[in-house]
Amino acid sequence: MIYKKIGNSDLKVSAIAIGAWQIGGQWGSYDKKEVEKIIDLAIENGVNFIDTAEGYGESESVLGEILKGKRDKFVIATKIGGNHFDYKTVKEHLTGSLKRLKTDYIDLYQIHWPKMKHLWHKEDMSEKDYEDIADSMKKLQKEGLIRFAGVSNFRKKHLQNFKKEIFSSVIISNQVPYSLIWRCYDIDETTDFCIENKVDYLAYSPLAEGLLTGRFKDRSEIIENIRKNNVLFNEPVYSKVLNFIDEIEKIAKDIGMSLSQIAINWCVSKNYVASALVGMRKSIHFEENIKSFNKKLPEDIIKTLDQLSLDFQKRYLVERLELWIGNCLKEDLEKIGIKN
Ligand SMILES: NC(=O)c1ccc[n+]([C@@H]2O[C@H](COP(=O)([O-])OP(=O)(O)OC[C@H]3O[C@@H](n4cnc5c(N)ncnc54)[C@H](OP(=O)(O)O)[C@@H]3O)[C@@H](O)[C@H]2O)c1
Repeated sequence: MIYKKIGNSDLKVSAIAIGAWQIGGQWGSYDKKEVEKIIDLAIENGVNFIDTAEGYGESESVLGEILKGKRDKFVIATKIGGNHFDYKTVKEHLTGSLKRLKTDYIDLYQIHWPKMKHLWHKEDMSEKDYEDIADSMKKLQKEGLIRFAGVSNFRKKHLQNFKKEIFSSVIISNQVPYSLIWRCYDIDETTDFCIENKVDYLAYSPLAEGLLTGRFKDRSEIIENIRKNNVLFNEPVYSKVLNFIDEIEKIAKDIGMSLSQIAINWCVSKNYVASALVGMRKSIHFEENIKSFNKKLPEDIIKTLDQLSLDFQKRYLVERLELWIGNCLKEDLEKIGIKN
């Protein structure tokens, strides 16, 4: 296993993490026995990082039960949702997470989203919102309830409103959608800002909700549940994605890797990506995914993938897009041909 430190902190995490959104019910059914097996396999194989959120249905509670006696083997990241970041509110949310996770500290406590209506709309979060986030997290860190803080889905336009010193000791990461088919955060300069300030990425949706495993080949397959709302699963983008994936799959085959392994490995080849958070509810997927680093990706392959993925991004997507249709601006969806 490869390990990386997140940002300026001493939090050392495995380069692949268990994404626990899948074990909360919102993705459909899951089997607790499978989750237990994944946790045991993680310990055996050196995976020490779990990402969950208060907003992921039963996820925190299920983990709390299964991690009894095993808590110290993992770095646990969770998230606060909502639109209020004052200390009292944040502490109330944190207390709920601690109870459900049956622990007395969180390693990485993240703000799940900038205020929803402020993603790309005209209004911005206020100066007070940024001060509140910084003050609340600093206080909770001093109290020993959290080790570090992070943000999630924050663009450069949000991050630049924090005072820079917060990035050296408190806020160490930005959890963002990042994969071979989703590089919006590179285009809008969020990546550059994060590199400059040593705010590491935790790459979510590194498999684009399963697209980068090659299992969605049949164009007539009906896309259900969460995926229905994902920009990438909607025509006319979907057909272009499937063609792109065929191309990447050929490259993977040539070097003896599976599509998911090359996708995970590419993410983590970036030194600003501390870990790829891979959603896992089936142990068979976990077993395949943890082998991603058995082979080192050759430099020339990384370069080819960089170029192909950037070309795809520039040609078919636009920088302000969010992964879910419901969070996108209508004019951006129109630009890429999605009717909503
Ligand atoms: N901060 C945020 O706003 C945010 C948003 C989304 C996700 N996340 C985090 O990131 C994690 C992962 O991202 P994600 O949920 O978007 O998806 P992902 O990791 O890109 O894809 C996960 C899905 O792909 C399928 N899969 C995984 N490995 C596979 C394999 N080897 N072969 C075939 N299929 C495989 C599984 O689908 P099935 O389960 O259907 O079989 C799995 O649920 C989440 O669990 C969560 O922790 C954060």
